[in-house]
Amino acid sequence: MTTDNPTAPQLAEAARAAGLAPSVHNTQPWRWLVHPDHLELYADRSRQLPVADPEGRLLTISCGAALHHAQVALAAEGWRSTVTPLPDPAQPDLLARVIPTTATEDPNAALRRFQAAQRRHTDRRAVTDQPVPPTALAQIRAAVEEYGLNLHVFRPEQLSELAVAADRAERQAASQPELLAELAYWTGGQQPAGTGIPDRAIPSEPPHTHVPVRDFGHPGELAPGAGTDRAASYAVLFGAEDTPASWLRAGQAAAAGWLTATEQGVAVLPFSAIVEAPGTRAVLRHLLAELGQPYLVLRLGLADPDHPGPAPTDRLAAAQTVEIVGGDQ
Ligand SMILES: Cc1cc2nc3c(=O)[nH]c(=O)nc-3n(C[C@H](O)[C@H](O)[C@H](O)COP(=O)(O)O)c2cc1C
Repeated sequence: MTTDNPTAPQLAEAARAAGLAPSVHNTQPWRWLVHPDHLELYADRSRQLPVADPEGRLLTISCGAALHHAQVALAAEGWRSTVTPLPDPAQPDLLARVIPTTATEDPNAALRRFQAAQRRHTDRRAVTDQPVPPTALAQIRAAVEEYGLNLHVFRPEQLSELAVAADRAERQAASQPELLAELAYWTGGQQPAGTGIPDRAIPSEPPHTHVPVRDFGHPGELAPGAGTDRAASYAVLFGAEDTPASWLRAGQAAAAGWLTATEQGVAVLPFSAIVEAPGTRAVLRHLLAELGQPYLVLRLGLADPDHPGPAPTDRLAAAQTVEIVGGDQ
């Protein structure tokens, strides 16, 4: 642990480590500016999904996840940090300023969290018939609540409505050529190197699940596994507002919940097609009894321990996302 301020190279290292964060279609729509004593996180609109995500909701959630991962990396290096969200109204793409403040309180926990960030990945296979332990669910929910947001775990009688909404979102997407072309771009090998979803992370056939997973438009190479989603818990991350500030917080909260899940051995699969389309987003609001705005649906489950999950997906070279102000990378 240290009480000195981190150097610019150490800040840059945290920004690079944040590149492992999850993002919609692995677009990594962020850019970091490394100042001598703080970091700035910008949205990179060149990697926004103009058809699926015209408002930038999923882009901002993805950036929130990267913001969380940068703080995790700083904590592992010994620093707590404070975040000022959207610090400059004149620059809406400046999403956050991260300033290291004091020493990390619990270095061992910080290190465990950092290690979870290295292991975390998206697993689109079916899950086992072992339910997620209630203690793990409670910890994941607590991690989300630290950001002032909520995680509603759907009750069994709500799952059919969720499944119908997910199916409707998939069918709507399949009837929109522009959306399919965008999806094909990010999953078909034409996308910028180090981005997108490779075939090794896409199931070779649809897993046998009640709630359909996202259809990427072509079969991948990942064995879907023999399981189902009978024992999975489905949850929706939600909050009071539907604004860029709340989307950023949702990304931080989703990443915090996901790393907590990883530490607990729980596999997470986000479902965002349901949130993208206004019609199915309204179904989610209804399932929440109009108590809040849905940001992301998550499937939580235990992955098959006997079969390895997908290999890690690639990331952009750090030189494309991290810039040291007034210096070399
Ligand atoms: C906001 C957001 C939305 C996502 N939506 C989906 C989704 O609908 N379906 C899916 O299979 N994966 C989804 N993902 C997972 C990403 O595709 C995944 O994070 C990315 O490909 C990088 O892979 P990794 O998580 O294994 O590192 C989403 C992730 C984020 C952050």
